[in-house]
Amino acid sequence: MSSESLRQQLFNEILLARQRVYAVREPTPLERLDIGTDAEVWVKREDQPPIHAYKWRGAYNNMATLSEEQRQRGVVCASAGNHAQGVALAAAKLGCSATVFMPRPTPMMKRKAVALHGGDHVTVELVGDTYDQAYHAARDYAAEHGLAFVHPYDDLATMGGQGTLADEVVMSGTGPFDVAYVQIGGGGMAAAVACWLKHYMPGIRVVGVEAEGQASMKAAVAHGGPVELESLDIFCDGTAVQRAGDLTFELCRELIDEFITVSNAEVCNAIRRFWNWRRRIVEPAGALGLAGLLSQQDRLSGKRALAITCGANLDFSQLAVIAADTGIGGQVRRHLRFRIDESPGALLGLLRDVLGGCNIVEFLYGKARAEYAEPVIGLDASDEVLQTVMQRCAAVGMPVTDITDGEDVDFRVINYDASLFHQPLLLRYEFPERAGALNEFLETIQPRANVCYFNYLYSGERVGRALVGLEFDTDGDRQAFLELLDEHPVLRLRHRVLSAETTQRMLGLPTGGQ
Ligand SMILES: Cc1ncc(COP(=O)(O)O)c(C=O)c1O
Repeated sequence: MSSESLRQQLFNEILLARQRVYAVREPTPLERLDIGTDAEVWVKREDQPPIHAYKWRGAYNNMATLSEEQRQRGVVCASAGNHAQGVALAAAKLGCSATVFMPRPTPMMKRKAVALHGGDHVTVELVGDTYDQAYHAARDYAAEHGLAFVHPYDDLATMGGQGTLADEVVMSGTGPFDVAYVQIGGGGMAAAVACWLKHYMPGIRVVGVEAEGQASMKAAVAHGGPVELESLDIFCDGTAVQRAGDLTFELCRELIDEFITVSNAEVCNAIRRFWNWRRRIVEPAGALGLAGLLSQQDRLSGKRALAITCGANLDFSQLAVIAADTGIGGQVRRHLRFRIDESPGALLGLLRDVLGGCNIVEFLYGKARAEYAEPVIGLDASDEVLQTVMQRCAAVGMPVTDITDGEDVDFRVINYDASLFHQPLLLRYEFPERAGALNEFLETIQPRANVCYFNYLYSGERVGRALVGLEFDTDGDRQAFLELLDEHPVLRLRHRVLSAETTQRMLGLPTGGQ
């Protein structure tokens, strides 16, 4: 089939899908977003109900085009989340049954959402560890039982439904747009949106956005046909597709003007910025298009641009990872390991002279050697700030290594040799989250104690909490310091000495009863 006739067929599918889809739901909003430049940015809010993702459109349209007999027999689908919810909703609306295959590690929240939308109409089968394994099991099951398989993207009826979101953009009268940034998983939404927008806004450029590590459409286009990616990053789980669809490949190759990739950190940053604009968290796949738009914002001066926030189904626990990966104020989080003398005042010197004015978000240090110390500092920094830090290090001859993305950093490993801690005192310390507070603490303790352990991570709260190990020349110095802590007008309220048992655990000493 020539791609021209495929494109025409898709156009016709969208045309027909409108009547079916609009009978079920109201259009989602199209909202203007001020990204702080002179670009006119609009966002199609597909993160809204009924399932907080656009996927119900394609699932419903696909199932509505089946014969009554097929629907009576029931349908099958495979999904890691959003498509399953769409099929569940459509099954309930159309009064048919659906068997939904999901990989076993699917978060409980997504399984519950399927049950919520589908009720008695849906049976969930948890099979395999990956979407692909669930997909093959679902296909086998459908073939064995003679049931219709509702494909999440590689089916014109599914794509036809997804295209209705582009029709709503056209019907809103807000266009035409110069450029649209559309995320690609299997490529169904991108193909449909590009097909419809290019018909009604002939001058529009459509940019397909994929996450690094899951760019299966970019690989397919480069290769001249769909290829299986050797490895698949699943951070953006909604778009994690190992191999582009056959139909979607043909359509995207023709309809998409440029394929770009963004990093997971850029996706996290787009989520954070959307939160700042709208107080709404979109899921990683839902923010991909916006991340693509932001990555090209310097090309958008005076232009009218469109992005789609197409999903908001994420497990609450993922927020911690997203927040840690976003950096603050559009900066990137980096981890630097410095080598300084293991001597009193060296740490304070590092913070004051090298890192002065920097936004410190993490501090990992443990005394592991008698001669030198290697604290790891996490910074949210722009390229310029990073360069300044490197220059300051070079000026004072301080060795520094960028160890961002190291597994030890990812897992917050702190090396220390507790046998080197002399007369140690371990305490929790809370300081106000403002510039200089950490330095003030170190300045206060520095003449009396040496830091042998420090563990701090910015949490977004007004107070920063650190686990601190101090060491002293003599037991008398340690006692004197404890008295000072209890009398000091500020430190008194901000510290808590660890219990003997916790201290023993941290020092690797046997604890009572063991
Ligand atoms: C939130 C979200 N965005 C994007 C996609 C990708 O859609 P497609 O497979 O049609 O490219 C999906 C697919 O499930 C999704 O759930």
